[in-house]
Amino acid sequence: MINAVITGIGGFVPEYVLNNDELSRMVDTNDEWIMTRIGIKERRILNEEGLGTSYMARKAVKQLLERTGTAPEEVDALVLATTTPDYHFPSTASIVVGRTGLVNAYAFDLQAACSGFLFAMDVAAGLIQSGRYKKIIVCGADKMSSMVDYTDRATCPIFGDGAAAVMVEPTEEDYGWKDAYLRTDGKGLPFLCMKAGGSVCPPSYFTIDHRMHYLHQEGRTVFKFAVTNMSDACALVAGRNGLTADNIAWVVPHQANVRIIEAVAARLELPMEKVMLNIQRYGNTSAATLPLALWDYEKQLHKGDNIILTAFGAGFTWGAAYMKWGYDTK
Ligand code: UT7
Repeated sequence: MINAVITGIGGFVPEYVLNNDELSRMVDTNDEWIMTRIGIKERRILNEEGLGTSYMARKAVKQLLERTGTAPEEVDALVLATTTPDYHFPSTASIVVGRTGLVNAYAFDLQAACSGFLFAMDVAAGLIQSGRYKKIIVCGADKMSSMVDYTDRATCPIFGDGAAAVMVEPTEEDYGWKDAYLRTDGKGLPFLCMKAGGSVCPPSYFTIDHRMHYLHQEGRTVFKFAVTNMSDACALVAGRNGLTADNIAWVVPHQANVRIIEAVAARLELPMEKVMLNIQRYGNTSAATLPLALWDYEKQLHKGDNIILTAFGAGFTWGAAYMKWGYDTK
């Protein structure tokens, strides 16, 4: 039996910090509203002209290669989850491969919005378990600032930019990716989307004049679906794997709103000390939230820890997964 296990993490967040005070000068909002309704203090913004998602992804991948002592040519595949690709085509993964020297890897983007990393991990685990691949990099990377409307106070406080990547390898030991419950329902389009720029409504003067190239979200509806679907998915995965508040070491939730995260923790009857939380510093980095949380908490993880990951995003897409952590950090 081959298991697929994470053997290292690399991450990157841009230097520029956009805090709530600066946001309050851009739109009619304030630190108190943002902290109580969402739980974000600041977010990182990639504000250097000409740099896109692939820039952050390749920084994360390079750190991952260094930390795991991996030569670029050893990597068999790169799965890159993003909603903010550098270009419609070619894939952002192909650009990252070219810039990091992954000369033996095949690479592709995976689009599942904020659930992208979770879906990409499940794909990578399947590839590893096929026995045909030895080293796969899974990266979650998003430059959300590229599609956020900084005149819309309902969305602009929420999002930030970042990237993180993990190495996935085979093991015969009882560690790694154990179970996943992943879903997509197609109900989310009216509530969370970018209205123009795709094949239904290509860019035009009209779409630009009507601000249709920004992220559109009906927050309250998305909030309700996120709480219900993430909580149900976590409860299902916990239940069928015998996981309880006692033997779960960590929950790694998508970082969209601290109130959503608290609701998921309450459903699992888990204290917040067991929940990874970095939304206050990075905001919602979409596909990057889960690996950035693992990156931040890596030193606190121990071999054998039972971890539940959960996410929810546009589509709607959502799910939960169970993994047993595979290493102690030196
Ligand atoms: O990652 C993908 C998945 N996305 C999510 O999970 C996001 C889910 N949604 C949310 O997190 C929340 O719905 C938001 C954070 C987006 C909004 O919070 P809310 O508690 O649902 O606020 P609301 O939209 O119901 O607005 C409440 C009030 C409104 O005023 P009225 O109509 O009650 O007078 C808004 O106009 O808050 C007002 N408001 C603001 N006030 C100050 C909205 N945005 C702001 C703001 N500052 N930035």
